[in-house]
Amino acid sequence: MNVAIIGTGYVGLCTGICLATIGHKVTCLDTDEKKIGALRRGETPIYEPHLVELMEEGRSNICFTTSYPDAIPNADVVFIAVGTPSTANGSPNLEYLSKAASSVGEHLGPAFTVVVNKSTVPIGSGNWVGTLLRESLERKHGRKMTDEFAVASNPEFLREGSALFDSLYPDRIVVGADHPKALETLYMLYRPIIDQSFSPPTDIPRPEAKTAVPLVSTDLASAELIKYAANAFLALKISFANEIGNIAERVGADITQVARGIGLDSRIGSRFLAAGIGWGGSCFGKDTAALVSTAAEYGVSMPIVESARLVNKRQRERVVDKLLGELKILKGRTVGLLGLAFKPNTDDLREAPAIDIARRLIERGVRVKVHDPIAAERFRHEYPDLDVQICAHAAQVAEDADAVVLVTEWTEYLQLDWDAVGDSMRQRLILDGRYSLDRERLIRSGFRYIGMSS
Ligand SMILES: NC(=O)c1ccc[n+]([C@@H]2O[C@H](COP(=O)([O-])OP(=O)(O)OC[C@H]3O[C@@H](n4cnc5c(N)ncnc54)[C@H](O)[C@@H]3O)[C@@H](O)[C@H]2O)c1
Repeated sequence: MNVAIIGTGYVGLCTGICLATIGHKVTCLDTDEKKIGALRRGETPIYEPHLVELMEEGRSNICFTTSYPDAIPNADVVFIAVGTPSTANGSPNLEYLSKAASSVGEHLGPAFTVVVNKSTVPIGSGNWVGTLLRESLERKHGRKMTDEFAVASNPEFLREGSALFDSLYPDRIVVGADHPKALETLYMLYRPIIDQSFSPPTDIPRPEAKTAVPLVSTDLASAELIKYAANAFLALKISFANEIGNIAERVGADITQVARGIGLDSRIGSRFLAAGIGWGGSCFGKDTAALVSTAAEYGVSMPIVESARLVNKRQRERVVDKLLGELKILKGRTVGLLGLAFKPNTDDLREAPAIDIARRLIERGVRVKVHDPIAAERFRHEYPDLDVQICAHAAQVAEDADAVVLVTEWTEYLQLDWDAVGDSMRQRLILDGRYSLDRERLIRSGFRYIGMSS
């Protein structure tokens, strides 16, 4: 099939490359000329494991453009994957979606096209995008138009850091549409993934147990709500672990053992039941805010989701409180932060806890040193005003530091020579914000080890 993808960010680019990998002809479009220039040269504007290799392998099936007239008229399916960031009141900013939909509408060809919202968009956006497309088409043709297109929702569940794996071997595919032909087209598009009949790329082999992927076909509104509900549930699982962590701290219990004891119950599951600094990234914060704000529009309150947000905010503040508790005076101290990206294996800094923590420490007169194996360069460009020392090597954040905080659990941090790290510090204090380090080993090396709930 001919596919056009609008927006070459984390979602658009990964989706485009995976669809090219399974044999579709894909045109990726972005209004950002720099991004498209880089992609045409074979460079990727984001970091995602194996993205470069897969893009190279799929080269014959994929092209990049800034031109709507080049991308849209021949497309059987158009995915809209532009950003939907939060506005000040928590509702999503739909400006990019609106512009993209109008531009798609202006260039739709004569053949039936399915226009798919892949961006995370509030309930009702499918209808709204349909109206924008129709208005654009009718403006262009000067007459009433029907049946040239249908709108579908196909929410994305990929995790940055394993986005390509998640796209090729997803837990499920959700498609929502009120038009049967749209559902049929998307079934055909995704069939190689649903049946797992495509040849897996060398770098991302198929897991043995993966033989088929469930397809959930729904109406538009249900698909839109599934995405928000899934993210809210994952976010609240993390906040729940943190809330239990706080009581664990008071009663002298070990939250990592408590979480393990809860998570092994198959009704609960251990994934995302992780105490620590809390969630970051571009999705959980914005999507929980959007869910609460949409619900309010319909007169529904969402106290569970609101509380999950509050617990997460409190958790970041606890990092500074913990350091204050240990060091007593923060002014004039040096603190090293290991990790800037909101999680390992990505360079994404959106809503990254490290940024917030660095800011709070600087406000208290702390000298902050930071390191990240992948996101440091992006950090330099996006936060030039943040007065921190960026270190080239992880161990350097510890030199003359009064404390080191593990913010992002990159594998290389878990394998540091902690004896040497300790030797270079003013005092051996480590705050393990992700409960990922070997506590016993650190204690044996003379560290004072503290977690977020200990
Ligand atoms: N990042 C994730 O992990 C993730 C996961 C699931 C869902 N989502 C959702 O997917 C959507 C995209 O997220 P992202 O992280 O890929 O965003 P992003 O900011 O990385 O990328 C968005 C891209 O859209 C481009 N763009 C904006 N307006 C455009 C227009 N009119 N025409 C063409 N291109 C345009 C931008 O230049 C940018 O490259 C969001 O709604 C997000 O909530 C993201």
